[in-house]
Amino acid sequence: MGEISVVGCGYVGLTVAVCMAHLGHNVVAADVDRERVEMLNRGQVPMFEARLDELLDEGLRSGRLRFVDDPQLAVTSARFHFMCVPTPQDVDGSADLSRLEAAIDDLADLFPLRSVVITKSTVPVGTADQLRSRLSRTDIAVVSCPEFLREGTAIHDFLGPDRIVIGALDDPTAQSVAELFAELDCPILTMTNRSAEAVKYGANAFLATKLSFINSMARICESVGADIQDVARGMAGDERIGGKFLAPGPGWGGSCFPKDVSALSHLAQAAGSPAPLLNAVLDANHSQLDHIASKALQAVGPTALDAHGQRDVVVGVWGLTFKAGTSDRRDSPAIAVIHRLLRAGVTVQAFDPTVSCGMDEAPEVRVTSDPYEAAAGADVLVVLTEWDDFTEIDLDKTAEVMNQPRMIDARNLFARDDAETAGFSYAGVGR
Ligand code: UGA
Repeated sequence: MGEISVVGCGYVGLTVAVCMAHLGHNVVAADVDRERVEMLNRGQVPMFEARLDELLDEGLRSGRLRFVDDPQLAVTSARFHFMCVPTPQDVDGSADLSRLEAAIDDLADLFPLRSVVITKSTVPVGTADQLRSRLSRTDIAVVSCPEFLREGTAIHDFLGPDRIVIGALDDPTAQSVAELFAELDCPILTMTNRSAEAVKYGANAFLATKLSFINSMARICESVGADIQDVARGMAGDERIGGKFLAPGPGWGGSCFPKDVSALSHLAQAAGSPAPLLNAVLDANHSQLDHIASKALQAVGPTALDAHGQRDVVVGVWGLTFKAGTSDRRDSPAIAVIHRLLRAGVTVQAFDPTVSCGMDEAPEVRVTSDPYEAAAGADVLVVLTEWDDFTEIDLDKTAEVMNQPRMIDARNLFARDDAETAGFSYAGVGR
């Protein structure tokens, strides 16, 4: 099996590394964070991700997987090099490629002859061409192989993909990369680098559009007395629409959708083909976050601001991560709603199964290790992440410890009847 290097051990790089070793390849994965590399070599996983610990352990035991803290050491014995460094959002909304470019500059002379450099990071259309001229080595091929992993189910998604997209200049190169995935049973779509790069943005922007649409539809349902759960069910019956990604919520977030929709909008503008739809998708999302915060405040009723701009209102929050099944709070809609509540002058106390201490991004929030403590004395409880664990919590006991048992269920996690039977005045989203 092929020798592979992976540059960058964030959640994409780590998933690629452990899964490629699982598929039988020899993998050397590099990260500049020495502490992370030491942890990984000891078999310790730095993030909450299903099955990652199991595959890390398997790779280390088999001897097919190891981690180094210097990317230069990783690439010298490999032929295929997966570039998995972050491409965060720059201040103007575009993708910041500085880390990818720095990695390519550092490694250009070290890649063995006829290497294949594969970008997994999400990059603007045209990046592969730029990397080719940056490398200035005619023996090296640059392939675009976008990643479609969801956090929380990354291993499952990698080993059971709907499709693999490979962008390359020529067919033999595309085939050599396709062979790395030979064990996986899925269609492999080959195309140009530019098209492959555009697929990734297209897929994420389309999914975000679907979510902004269903959240807008939920708002309409609230105004006209329809129930979004039934409406979504009815829409999903049309195979052209499909049933996935139709759950309304407090707004969408995470480390990918917000940055990728912004980057695509920026790319469209720069290419002279502005895409107003993308800006509307982003605006609709901000509006949904505002809406959920106002619903919580309205549930409490009018209250006065004191001389310090504070209100005598306590909001309990369940859920801080950007979705269930992950410990990631980057661009979390829950945090965005909390910031709106804090700006309105209320006190926020919160519980999340993955958060055990205060949060730098919202230090004013008292984080509790117990869901009842987060609800204790609260005037309203807002459910912001769809953790299944919350449905195990005793609602009668929760209602009892609150100042007023009111619930804004921004994930429609609870049945209205159950919440009302426990004594809550209940409002979901879009129903
Ligand atoms: C997303 C894409 O789903 C992946 O295909 C892609 O590879 C990844 O970004 C990436 O570019 O790396 P992820 O960020 O892990 O994956 O999160 P999602 O599961 O897509 O959820 C994104 C947001 O949408 C979350 O805030 C989630 O709560 C929300 N969501 C999702 C809803 O509100 N309703 C839904 O029905 C689904």
